[in-house]
Amino acid sequence: MYRRPLATALERLGVGEGWRCVDVGAGTGDVAIELGLTVGRTGRVYAVDVDPAARDAVAEAAAVYAQVIALTQAVEDLILPEAVDLAFCRFLLLHVLDPEVAVKAMAAQVRAGGWVVIQEPITSAGRIDGEALSMPGARHPDIGAMLPSMVRRCGLELEDAWAEAPAGSGPGPVRDYLFELSEVDPNEASIVLPPLVTVLARRPS
Ligand SMILES: C[S@@+](CC[C@H](N)C(=O)[O-])C[C@H]1O[C@@H](n2cnc3c(N)ncnc32)[C@H](O)[C@@H]1O
Repeated sequence: MYRRPLATALERLGVGEGWRCVDVGAGTGDVAIELGLTVGRTGRVYAVDVDPAARDAVAEAAAVYAQVIALTQAVEDLILPEAVDLAFCRFLLLHVLDPEVAVKAMAAQVRAGGWVVIQEPITSAGRIDGEALSMPGARHPDIGAMLPSMVRRCGLELEDAWAEAPAGSGPGPVRDYLFELSEVDPNEASIVLPPLVTVLARRPS
C-alpha cells in the first residue's frame, strides 16, 4: 500500500549501488529488501528490529541478498558496525516511547553529510466515507504531522518533506489493508488511508 511513497523517497534521494543503509523497525523487511535490491552486492543494508521474530522473518525473506543483514536491537540502543549513508524508518516512531530519542539514535549512526529518512503516518487524517479514522493503539498516532520540526530539533538539516495517501473504493488492496488496520470493513465506501509524511533530512557535514 505504501510502496509508492517509498519509491518517491528513494528516487528523490538517488539511492544507488554501494550505499550503506539501515532500516530501523524493519518488521518483515519490505523496505530492507527494496533497499537491498537498490544498493546491490556492493552495498549493505542492516535490517534492525527489537523483535527477534522480525529478524528471522527478514533473514528468511532476504536469504538470496547477501547484502541484507538482520539484527535484533532497539532503536534507542542502535549501534552498527559502520557509519551508514542512510538511516531509514517507516511506521516505527508512532510506536516508540520517545520519538526524538529514536531519531537522535538513528542520526548518530549516519556519516557526516548522510541521510535520515522517515516515513510516519497521520492516522487521524485517514477517512472512511468522510469520517475520520483513529488508531488508539499507537503511542503517537499522528507523529507524521510533527516530523519536519522534530528532525530540526534533533540537529538535522531538513531538505524536503511531503505527505502521500493511497485512496480507493470497493474491493482491492486499499480495502484489505484498512480492514487489517482498523477491523472496520468499509464495503463500497471511499477510503483514504492515513497519509504518510516523508522527511528527507541530512546530518550536517
Ligand atoms: C508497524 S511495524 C513496521 C514495519 C516496517 N517498517 C514497514 O514499514 O513495513 C513496526 C516495527 O517496529 C518494531 N519496533 C517497535 N518498537 C521498536 C524499537 N523500540 N526499536 C526497534 N524496533 C521497534 C516492531 O517490532 C515492528 O516490527
